[in-house]
Amino acid sequence: SPSDPDLVERARAAKERLGEKVFVLGHHYQRDEVIGFADVTGDSFKLARDAAARPQAEYIVFCGVHFMAESADILTSDAQQVILPDLAAGCSMADMATAEQVEECWDTLAAAGVAGDTVPVSYMNSSADIKAFTGRHGGTICTSSNARRALEWAFDSSGGGARRVLFLPDQHLGRNTAIRDLGMAPEDCVVYNPHRPGGGLTPEQLRDARMILWRGHCSVHGRFSLDSVREVRERIPGVNVLVHPECRHEVVAAADRVGSTEYIIRALEEAPPGSKWAVGTELNLVRRLADRHAPEGKEVVFLDRTVCFCSTMNRIDLPHLVRSLESLAEGRVVNRITVDEETAHWARVALERMLALP
Ligand code: 13P
Ligand code: SF4
Repeated sequence: SPSDPDLVERARAAKERLGEKVFVLGHHYQRDEVIGFADVTGDSFKLARDAAARPQAEYIVFCGVHFMAESADILTSDAQQVILPDLAAGCSMADMATAEQVEECWDTLAAAGVAGDTVPVSYMNSSADIKAFTGRHGGTICTSSNARRALEWAFDSSGGGARRVLFLPDQHLGRNTAIRDLGMAPEDCVVYNPHRPGGGLTPEQLRDARMILWRGHCSVHGRFSLDSVREVRERIPGVNVLVHPECRHEVVAAADRVGSTEYIIRALEEAPPGSKWAVGTELNLVRRLADRHAPEGKEVVFLDRTVCFCSTMNRIDLPHLVRSLESLAEGRVVNRITVDEETAHWARVALERMLALP
């Protein structure tokens, strides 16, 4: 639906008043009405890097979800303030691993005698506490665009030196990367269930595993199924199926191409006119890609019409953005995201390991 012209004008005016003081970051899953105001757009990795590269901006307005704003706060200077236009914009996947649960898991690994040669690798989609846990135990953060390099680093003797990896909190990204990119067997991966004593695993299973996958998933990507892929292939002969690695392994295995949001955007840019694509990622992005490429005769459809938007990404709408920008223009900071110094220190250690990956 078209945005309220009044709100568009208010956002524009407030942003103009703020000038260089404000830097607006927008994740690719944001609504059209919001993404138009972003100074840069990107996947999680690019946004983390770009947030850190803007020391002159006093305010960073993060149009994305909570863990992204936390990471921006960790990577920027103390003088910079990070604002999330709606504090309810969380991530259900990040919420699936709490600090207490992860500490308990580590105790379980220690009791089984395997903590010493296990290295945590945590997906960006996790709280600052989980990132700090990761840094404290010699691990790294990864995103969907560098998960392969993060795992290679973790297993390398001159990197993390791991015999096994504890991968948090997205079991699908962990499994997909281990099997597709590192050539592991499905049996090398076990799933740790934080709601079961000992994770539901025996000490032998923990010891023999190469990947201990946390039982978390994305509520949006988890809904694409093998049937979604079969149905679209039947409906659109010759279609290329392009999915995000947060999808389940059977979906990724049946797809033609797999990658982060930035990868998906690039793949469609490079696609020849006349080609057909079914894309399995968040709907705001897929709709924009469909509109952008239709004039060149590229057909882009949503992989499964029964899947919907990421409800938390969608919480950031134009009224919330206007409120953030107008209050900043009046010198009031609302919805600031901060991470305490101790947590930020260790989370930064883990994030900087990621930023230093080859
Ligand atoms: P990327 O943009 O890094 O591919 O991440 C997708 C996502 O789900 C962010 O929440
Ligand atoms: Fe979290 Fe999934 Fe939404 Fe990304 S798309 S913010 S992983 S719930």
